[in-house]
Amino acid sequence: MNTLFLHCRPGFEGEVCAEISEQAARLQIAGYAKGKPASACAEFICSEADGVERLMAGLRFNQLIFPRQWARGRFVELPESDRISVLLEALADYPQCGSLWLEVLDSNEGKELSNFCKKFEAPLRKALSKAGKLVEDARKPRLLLTFKSGREVFLGLAEPNNSALWPMGIPRLKFPREAPSRSTLKLEEAWHTFIPREQWDERLSDEMTGVDLGAAPGGWTYQLVRRGMLVTAIDNGPMAESLMDTGLVQHLMVDGFTWTPKQPVDWMVCDIVEKPARTAAMVERWIGEGHCREAVVNLKLPMKQRYAEVRRLLERMQEGFAERKLKVSIACKQLYHDREEVTCHLRRVGR
Ligand SMILES: C[S@@+](CC[C@H](N)C(=O)[O-])C[C@H]1O[C@@H](n2cnc3c(N)ncnc32)[C@H](O)[C@@H]1O
Repeated sequence: MNTLFLHCRPGFEGEVCAEISEQAARLQIAGYAKGKPASACAEFICSEADGVERLMAGLRFNQLIFPRQWARGRFVELPESDRISVLLEALADYPQCGSLWLEVLDSNEGKELSNFCKKFEAPLRKALSKAGKLVEDARKPRLLLTFKSGREVFLGLAEPNNSALWPMGIPRLKFPREAPSRSTLKLEEAWHTFIPREQWDERLSDEMTGVDLGAAPGGWTYQLVRRGMLVTAIDNGPMAESLMDTGLVQHLMVDGFTWTPKQPVDWMVCDIVEKPARTAAMVERWIGEGHCREAVVNLKLPMKQRYAEVRRLLERMQEGFAERKLKVSIACKQLYHDREEVTCHLRRVGR
């Protein structure tokens, strides 16, 4: 069991390889990463027997930027019939698991395989339970079976509290019909990803105020309004009338990169298409100068060296806050609803 298997957005295999290799080197775990372009997955093969376990234990999944899901384990070839017996045999040295997810990759083959998985899940679940390999227990490892084809599966293990929140890292969010744009799902996913559900009432409360930079037509403003916040929406473009009719939105046609509020607000969100370094410097200033306490910003990625650029910007922000002697938690993730971009969440803690 010396392989770490990682899911990602197709086209970002190189970023996952660079990121996991850097993290493994930091933890002094020997191995190498590989990922076929556009395959929507990558692998990190460890040289030492316990390397993958140490790698997963030494990292927090939610601190990784590009992987959508991860699991340690190995590949197994499946026959055309009686796949369950082969799987049971292959799982002989796996521990008893507390949950089971059947996963596919975010690719065309993956879409075709998801029907097979739906049919296969019930009989497999039954056989695993009967063999004592599966019980309902949230403290035990999760068994993650990723089907690369009907003939090849990765038998993976991950801790439920240190892996993706959803199968394949894909949240099933329903598009709210009243929302003015599909981008609304990006901010909703960001909240699910960065804010524990039990803290939503306190951190996304209707007593709060927010600023949305680059707001039009209003998908992100819609999410803030849905939480009952008073929102200042900054954009030269028009906002959806349905949002303006709520009476909770003030629309200002000014430049989002130079405007700052007269009074501090609770939240700043920004979805402007701009060079990522400019957006990063702007959010550093907003938090650093106390214009907001918490922020979600989208960093549009350059064409090349995307991982290196994101790391550089995150480090620069960290150094900036350290110079200001501020404690700010920074998280960054390529969300399912992100395309050539990542989403950052920043929160000033203490004082
Ligand atoms: C990707 S769209 C935002 C979509 C929005 N988040 C939504 O959910 O509907 C980017 C917006 O940024 C605006 N924009 C671009 N540069 C800007 C600037 N310097 N200041 C304010 N808005 C800007 C554009 O007019 C555009 O409406």
